[in-house]
Formats: sequence, structure tokens, C-alpha cells
Amino acid sequence: MQQKIKDVSNQFEKDIAQVENLNSLEEVRIKYLSKKGLFVKLFEEFKSLPKEEMPKFGSLLNQTKNSVQASIDALRDKLEKSGKEAEKYIDLTLPGKDVDIGSKHILIQTLDEMKSIFKSLGFSVYEGPELESDYNNFEALNFPPDHPARDMQDTFFVTEDFLLRTHTSPVQIRLMKNGKPPFRAIMPGKVYRNEAISAKSYCLFHQVEGLYIDKNVTLAELKGTLIAFVKQFFGNDVKYRFRPSFFPFTEPSAEMDIWWEPKDKPGRWLEILGCGMVDPNVLENVGIDPEEWVGYAFGIGVERNALRKYGIDDIRLFFDNDKRFLTQF
Ligand code: DAH
Repeated sequence: MQQKIKDVSNQFEKDIAQVENLNSLEEVRIKYLSKKGLFVKLFEEFKSLPKEEMPKFGSLLNQTKNSVQASIDALRDKLEKSGKEAEKYIDLTLPGKDVDIGSKHILIQTLDEMKSIFKSLGFSVYEGPELESDYNNFEALNFPPDHPARDMQDTFFVTEDFLLRTHTSPVQIRLMKNGKPPFRAIMPGKVYRNEAISAKSYCLFHQVEGLYIDKNVTLAELKGTLIAFVKQFFGNDVKYRFRPSFFPFTEPSAEMDIWWEPKDKPGRWLEILGCGMVDPNVLENVGIDPEEWVGYAFGIGVERNALRKYGIDDIRLFFDNDKRFLTQF
């Protein structure tokens, strides 16, 4: 008898551990405590025991049944409470939750537009790493060590020989070292400069580098390509000009300005890119014969162009991740 009581008790512990809701709890209660339940059966057996054994097993049986009843009651209480708790938080009169759908950042949209304009002009897209060697970023581009032109670009050095690229021009070097001319590609990406942060400058920005190397490339073609670009990007009536400039890796070099008239302010010329004919020294540095190959290069500042195109007056807005700004585009 004792073993039977123990078996039922053990079985009950297993069953109640499986209970997850009030319905399954009720099934357990029926199995053990209803009129056809296991305890009724045990009591029937108990009645047929010899009289002298009755007191001993009677109290064991009662205790076990009471503790089964107590476990069921306690669990029922708990399940009912947590059900009410859950109900408390469901307010069917509340409006539904808005699902915010993400959108492309305005800089990415601008980059995409630039890429598609240059693709339509026959350029492919090539990318390089943001961590760059001093050699690719400066030396191969004809900046000798200690050359003052290095000061034009305040550099974040990572080690003595490695840095965060200050422009996308080193990707020109990678492209030319990894292939054979002719080349016609743009190279978009992030660049870094150790500059004081203000409405006009930020320590991180984007450039789109361009390179065209072939047998008979002319300055006129460079101008034609960039004019086609600004017309597509800013509109056909954009006013532009080329100004002579200096870059160590191009000769001759120029900068392109566009005429800008902000609302309620006098108009002025604004620089949007640098360009020039690739310096023969650069071609030699990557093993291309400058007697045989010529080419042009350009580097466009993405933020500056986006500022102008969309009438934004603070470059920091691009990097603040303020949804009120980002969702306007
Ligand atoms: N790398 C230059 C800068 O960051 C921009 C530039 C100028 C790129 C002339 C060029 C170029 O490819 O030909 O200021």
C-alpha cells in the first residue's frame, strides 16, 4: 500500500510540473481528485486492508491527498493571477503602433546618384580600404616625405606608416597597381581629416575619386566629363568655372566651382572638386609608362555637393542621426 501511495505521489509531481495553463491543471485535478480519480481508487483499496494496518496508512493517504490538493490550489491561484496581470496590459482601445520604415541616408542617396551619373558616362566603380599606408596616401601620389603639401591634409596616423586615408586618391594607386591600363573608374568612399569640427568641416566625410587612363586622353575630355556631371547633378542651368590650382599628383591641376545663390544672401563661387591631368611621376610609381599612357583624375567632395544641392547649411547634420533631419529626404 505504502508503495502505491508513493507511486501516485511521484506521478503527480511529474504531471504538475508539465502544467502550463488552467486547462491542463484541471485535467490533472480530474486525474487525481475527481470521483473517478486515483485517490478514490486508493481509498477503496485502503478500505479492504486488515483493520490493524488502517491507522498507519490512513494518515499517510490523507496527508498525500491534502498535499496534492494544496499544490493544485496554489498553482491555480498563481495561474489566475498571472492571467489577470496580462489582461491589465491589454488595452484594446489604444491606437496601433506606428511602424517606422527606414530610408536611405541622404549621403548614400547622393553617392548613389553620383555613381549612376558616372556609370552612364562609362565609368566602373572600384573601392579601397579606409586604413591606408602612408605610401599609397602620400608618397606614390608624389607627395615626398616632409613636403609642405602634406600639411594641406591633417592626418590621423595609426602608426608611423599607416593612417586613415585623407582622400580617396590612394585608391587610384591600388587600381593602377592591380591592373593594366586603360582604366576608367570612380572610387567612392569615406575619408578622414584631423580638423576642428564646425558647420563647414567634419573629421569624416566622403569623396568620389575619378580616374581615366588611356592613350590619348585630353584636358578637354576631363572638362567635358565634369561639365556633364554638374549639369546632371545640379541641373542644366548650373553656372560653373574651372580655376587653376595645385595638387602634387596632377599637372596641370584645377578646381571646379559652381555659382551659388543661397536665399536672401549674395551669390558666390563655391569649390566642389579638384582635378587635373595625372602627373607622369604617379604613373611611373605604379609601373605605367607615361610615354605611352596619359590620363586625368578628379576628386569630388560628396558632403559639399549634397549641402549645395539640398540647401543644407551645416555639415554636422549628416552625422547627427537626428530623425527629424533624415526623414526630410
Ligand atoms: N585628393 C584631393 C583632395 O582630397 C582631391 C583631388 C584633386 C583628387 C585633384 C584628384 C585630383 O584626383 O586630380 O583634396
